[in-house]
Amino acid sequence: MSLDRSYQASFNENNQEFVIAGKLRPRNEAEIRPLAEALDAALGKVRGTFYLNVKRLARLNNVAFRVITNLVSQVCDKRSDLRVEVVTSSVMGWSTRKFLPLASRLPNVSVNEYDQDFYPGQSYLEEGGFIPILRAQTKLTWTHERHVLPRHGLRPGMAMADVCCGIGDFAVLVQKEFSPASIIALDHSRTSLDYARKVAADFGVSNIEYVYGDASEMILEDSQFDFVTCRHSLQVFDKPELILKELYRICKPGGRVYVTNEKNSHCLGEPRADSIQWTYNEVARLWADYKMDIELGPKSRRFLIDAGFEDIKMDSFMVTNLDGDPQGFADIIQSWENVYAGEMARDRGDSPEFVAKFRQGFQDHIYAALHPKGYAGWPIWAASGRKPL
Ligand SMILES: C[S@@+](CC[C@H](N)C(=O)[O-])C[C@H]1O[C@@H](n2cnc3c(N)ncnc32)[C@H](O)[C@@H]1O
Repeated sequence: MSLDRSYQASFNENNQEFVIAGKLRPRNEAEIRPLAEALDAALGKVRGTFYLNVKRLARLNNVAFRVITNLVSQVCDKRSDLRVEVVTSSVMGWSTRKFLPLASRLPNVSVNEYDQDFYPGQSYLEEGGFIPILRAQTKLTWTHERHVLPRHGLRPGMAMADVCCGIGDFAVLVQKEFSPASIIALDHSRTSLDYARKVAADFGVSNIEYVYGDASEMILEDSQFDFVTCRHSLQVFDKPELILKELYRICKPGGRVYVTNEKNSHCLGEPRADSIQWTYNEVARLWADYKMDIELGPKSRRFLIDAGFEDIKMDSFMVTNLDGDPQGFADIIQSWENVYAGEMARDRGDSPEFVAKFRQGFQDHIYAALHPKGYAGWPIWAASGRKPL
């Protein structure tokens, strides 16, 4: 049901969920009568909990707010069996503030800001602990990706989005080397976005727009980007297919979506190969315990096909200690050790003996990277697919 060009409303009876999205700014109550009637009818069909989903509601004026809350209040007054959960988002921070008073007035109404704590690895990725990791990684992956990206279709003048942009260094490098017409870089970490804006300012880059948002529920319009990137992020979010669906949606028909992911258990090094191998097998297990799949790299092709893309291209490359200064490689490994064998292992409750052995593998990887005859590697899969015309 589409009731107005500026907003959409729909009811899913199976989920008992009424979704309102877009901009709801009627001049008077009569203008949103169809919405009020649909909401009233939906409330009448539900037992137990009714979900009023306003996650993607970008604007809501007082006229519409009054209509919705009056209706909910009336129904709740009559039906003490009914619970109404208003699902808001931190991306639309105002919506939580606006609906909270309704919850304090009515005992059967609650407000749930869904993206407070919405994927298991979130706190590690959003609170800044990953910043040293991301900084160290992009420096070395760029030496490969700058050659890989044109094969996947990146050209000057394109409209580009970098979804789950982290600290935004990739967007800056792309801007400098490939001169896209515009870049929108989106992430759900305010700490990383603050950092990203600072990096862009330091480099004098002004045409990257950094946006706070959830990659699995973006407030970006359909079919507007020629090239959409999402690096090392399908592997951290517990429902990668939801992010891919959104990448597909915002990509223009004929445009391409490019993703990179790892398979950490294939990290390697000589000398001390066995200890290194043991630790990276454990990294994969640790991540799986947090519902993250750091083994996703080679699965990218399947994910892209299942999301509806065609003309899949796939590359893998090995970042190594020979890509430049070996210390740059060692810095990546040290940053992994700090977070994986630090807070993540601690929060999982790992024993001191386990953590010591876990740390040793990272140190051995560093040893291999800095050894005059050593070799150390970190494999990455880059994959892209075209959205059908
Ligand atoms: C491993 S980092 C990679 C960052 C960057 N693409 C890079 O390669 O350096 C993963 C990023 O995904 C972001 N992220 C994960 N799930 C997200 C979601 N649902 N919406 C937006 N950002 C998300 C995290 O905040 C984090 O910045």
